[in-house]
Amino acid sequence: MAMLSLEKVTRIYKKGEGEVRALDGIDLSVEAGEFLAVVGPSGSGKTTLLNILGCLDSPTGGRIVYDGTDLHSLGEAELSAYRRDRISFIFQSYNLVPVLTVRENVELPLVIEARAKGKKEGLKDAQIKALALEMIEAVGLSDKADRFPRELSGGQEQRVAIARALVKRPLVVLADEPTANLDSRTAGEVLDLMRDINLRMGTTFLFSTHDRLVMERARRIVTLHDGRIATDTAVAPASPGPGTRASGPAADSGSDGIRATKSSKRIS
Ligand SMILES: Nc1ncnc2c1ncn2[C@@H]1O[C@H](COP(=O)(O)OP(=O)(O)OP(=O)(O)O)[C@@H](O)[C@H]1O
Ligand SMILES: [Mg+2]
Repeated sequence: MAMLSLEKVTRIYKKGEGEVRALDGIDLSVEAGEFLAVVGPSGSGKTTLLNILGCLDSPTGGRIVYDGTDLHSLGEAELSAYRRDRISFIFQSYNLVPVLTVRENVELPLVIEARAKGKKEGLKDAQIKALALEMIEAVGLSDKADRFPRELSGGQEQRVAIARALVKRPLVVLADEPTANLDSRTAGEVLDLMRDINLRMGTTFLFSTHDRLVMERARRIVTLHDGRIATDTAVAPASPGPGTRASGPAADSGSDGIRATKSSKRIS
């Protein structure tokens, strides 16, 4: 069974007299451990899709099933608990809490979960601290654990956001244009870190992006056009030979990645 499946998912926004079909019948199946990029022109529905997958928004129609749980079957409280415990976000603007240290930022999801679960079931403070420090080490920031976000570079802030996203061992990490605020070298490093975590921990990552650097590393690329899936492409494993990655020194940000799928095999 797929870790995540979407069946005929639609999201319609009312606009004056008319409507916008931001998502128009999305069928998608994602396995645990995938490293998947959703690409497509501005307005094609990428953010809408991620927000719906992250339960920040509800579909107008269709079904979303995570690991056997149909989100539609959950009440509001159950849905927010599900989101809190199983799904993580990484945002373009990092969204760290400025008055908390790196360690406290990374602890935050566990603190919230522990509060919600109560003293008996929730993790103890010492366990939370240990888990946070472990993730901070995994993103290479052990020496910054007691610093505040304003003392960090953009790439370091995004690493903290990655640690925060991973600390609760979510089913999936949803990342909406996570490299948009980073220069290309830092973006490459942050993406390599995510890919490394994906391989080492088996965490599923789902990106929305315009960034060639993301597409070069993705193992599967789903292209949206006007709220529909236009292509769904598995990228062949990297090898020294030609035709595996759409890479090269001239790789630029800002295109929509159709070229990145050229050398890969179609799976649908
Ligand atoms: N809250 C909203 N109310 C009305 N229309 C919306 C709303 N959010 C998104 N839309 C519309 O839905 C469509 C999809 O928007 P979405 O933000 O998902 O696109 P996107 O692919 O993420 O674009 P971008 O690459 O610019 O981030 C667009 O036509 C957009 O104008
Ligand atoms: Mg968007």
